[in-house]
Amino acid sequence: MFVPGHMDVERVRMDFPIYSGENKDYIYLDNACQTLRPTSVVEAMARYYLEYPACGGRSVHRLATQVSIEVDEAREKVASFLGAKRPEEIAFTKNCTEALNLVSKGCKLKKGDVVVTTDFEHNSNHVPWLQMQQSKGIRRRFVLTPPSGLFDVEAFKKAMSRDVKMVSMVHCNNITGAGIPAREIVEISHDYGALVMLDGAQAAPHKKVDVSNLDVDFYAISMHKMLGPSGMGVLFGKMEHLKELEPLVAGGGGVSLTTQEKAELLPPPERFEAGLQNYAGIIGTGAAIDYLTRLGMQEIGNHEIILNERATSLLQAIPNVSILAPSEAKNRGSILSFNVKGMSSHDVAMILDEIGKVMIRSGMHCVHPYFLARQLEGCARASFYIYNSLEEVEIFAAKVLEVASKFSM
Ligand SMILES: Cc1ncc(COP(=O)(O)O)c(C=O)c1O
Repeated sequence: MFVPGHMDVERVRMDFPIYSGENKDYIYLDNACQTLRPTSVVEAMARYYLEYPACGGRSVHRLATQVSIEVDEAREKVASFLGAKRPEEIAFTKNCTEALNLVSKGCKLKKGDVVVTTDFEHNSNHVPWLQMQQSKGIRRRFVLTPPSGLFDVEAFKKAMSRDVKMVSMVHCNNITGAGIPAREIVEISHDYGALVMLDGAQAAPHKKVDVSNLDVDFYAISMHKMLGPSGMGVLFGKMEHLKELEPLVAGGGGVSLTTQEKAELLPPPERFEAGLQNYAGIIGTGAAIDYLTRLGMQEIGNHEIILNERATSLLQAIPNVSILAPSEAKNRGSILSFNVKGMSSHDVAMILDEIGKVMIRSGMHCVHPYFLARQLEGCARASFYIYNSLEEVEIFAAKVLEVASKFSM
């Protein structure tokens, strides 16, 4: 269904080869896990393997030089996309998890220092801090989410004190899609002398993120949630903080001259990129950024809200279906999580796939403490992106109605 003035979904779908031929009727709503990839990203990666499959940053021959140039260009594109002041503030990682670990393990916190997070953290921003608690004796405080599902700024202020050295939070969470008032959090944290790291895995694919405007110290993203290659992530860090960070992985490519006794680290970001890199992934990352930039982040966010509002109103009308708060779609971006009374979320997901080729995610979504605290087994999660249409939303809701009418207890 084409709605004038809105995202031209028909046009966008032509860029995604999965929709050609037999798979036209796939309804892919698992975008918070991984998005689909446009031809331009796949082709950029293929070009690396087919035309210049060499090593960047080391050899000096023509193929290697081309790789180095492409890597530099990709870094510049990411820097500009995120509003970083310079490309050197961008380090490539193998995913968002690695970026978050790089900071938590490398930031030299000491016994007694406090890290403030939320009860909505993905395991990737929970387990590394838990490890630091166990190995280094850091302390942790959690900002709990009230029943409204919206971030509790007052609870956050109460959690702050002078011994807080790091505030590490999910920018938009991956269960309900709710966000935090990032600018305000950064400002308050800095007043207390604490650094701020944001997990942007579910934010950067959906809205304009400007790290300079946010004044955030570290920002981690996941490229496979924003049209990019699997196994690619990015860490942004302010240069003065990157210089203080211990690399997670050390070795060739991350050091200048070494002796038997001493190794001198290269300046950021090279010191964090030791070992041969995923060059195809980095180049594909640049192509994904190009695609998103062409489409426009504002346009993407608007489109998702239109889809989510329609999906929300349709699901709200189905008996025995409950939507996880916040209730308003505009507070959940591209995510709609729900449960069908008396059914496990895995059963809901499997049946939707079976009866309608509707693909969603189910379970606890790597945020176990959140569900355990609420005695929930998990939830079914639909997440929308640029190629999803209102027509697909209607089919999704009709299939949920069918599932709820036949199987709900
Ligand atoms: C909020 C959030 N943080 C971190 C991650 C981990 O991302 P990655 O798979 O790139 O390590 C995810 C993945 O689902 C996520 O949703």
